Amino acid sequence: MLPDPIIVMPDFVARFEGWDLRGMTAEDETRMRDHLVRYSVIVIADQHISDDDQIAFAERFGPPESYAKAPSFYKAGGPPRLLDISNVDAEKNILDPADKRRLIDLGNRLWHSDSSFNPVPAHHSMLYAIEISSKGGETQFCDLRAAYDALPDDWKAEIDGLVAEHWAMHARVTLMGVTDWSPAELEMLKPDAWHPLVRTLPDSGRKTLFLSAHASRIIGMPVPEARILLHELTDFAAQPERIYTHHWRERDLVIWDNRCAMHRLKRYDVAREKRILRRATTVDVAYVPLERPDEIDAAA
Ligand code: OGA
Ligand code: MN
Repeated sequence: MLPDPIIVMPDFVARFEGWDLRGMTAEDETRMRDHLVRYSVIVIADQHISDDDQIAFAERFGPPESYAKAPSFYKAGGPPRLLDISNVDAEKNILDPADKRRLIDLGNRLWHSDSSFNPVPAHHSMLYAIEISSKGGETQFCDLRAAYDALPDDWKAEIDGLVAEHWAMHARVTLMGVTDWSPAELEMLKPDAWHPLVRTLPDSGRKTLFLSAHASRIIGMPVPEARILLHELTDFAAQPERIYTHHWRERDLVIWDNRCAMHRLKRYDVAREKRILRRATTVDVAYVPLERPDEIDAAA
């Protein structure tokens, strides 16, 4: 039976020990569902699971993401419903420093919310550690519900009703300067996601900030002003009191709710140490995507 969680940070991070997710009962599932509404990050320690176990567990909580905007090389190492989050190739050799996938993956070190560049973004990401680095390589999570609650009232009023464009190429091209893309990639990755900066979550009723490194501009606002606002909000959100740092142990499964937390990878010796994880992701089925805003065409 699912034990009571160890509370790591109240209403933000919970941890389970001594439980095998492969034996999840219907009752465990109901309790886990409640925990997933209350907590933004859930650590389940010491899981001896296969790729299929990880996929089956994730699919109990929501439909899988298709990873349509993940370049195909991401999927090379695993079955299609898991993302390969590693710095190695299919033969487990560390990627060359100039390898494009390695360069793109550096973007995981920016605060982000997974797949916010999709019209229907990710709900839960479930990351399983197969091999970790001996030093660094922690994952940090920032509490976006607490951040919203802590915002001064005038700032809340200023951002109420604003809509941001999230674009799969913003971090990759604008922030990191990866420039070699085929016309087909550019076409497939063009912006098609517009999300409110503030959301009220249907399950908990709490408000949250929708921030991500993929947010490229705000509709109806000059781009520099929008970028500074997004930068300042991210800075405000990611204050130490709202951050949980996960120090990985092999066989940890860490689940986060992308609606309620941003995350980022901390530096490690990516050229010398292997770090191999696999991610299952569910889509946010309750999310109603916004239409393409009229202002975009008016400004073009
Ligand atoms: C991810 C991600 C960070 C990490 O899997 O979505 O951003 O620590 N990972 O590997
Ligand atoms: Mn991520």
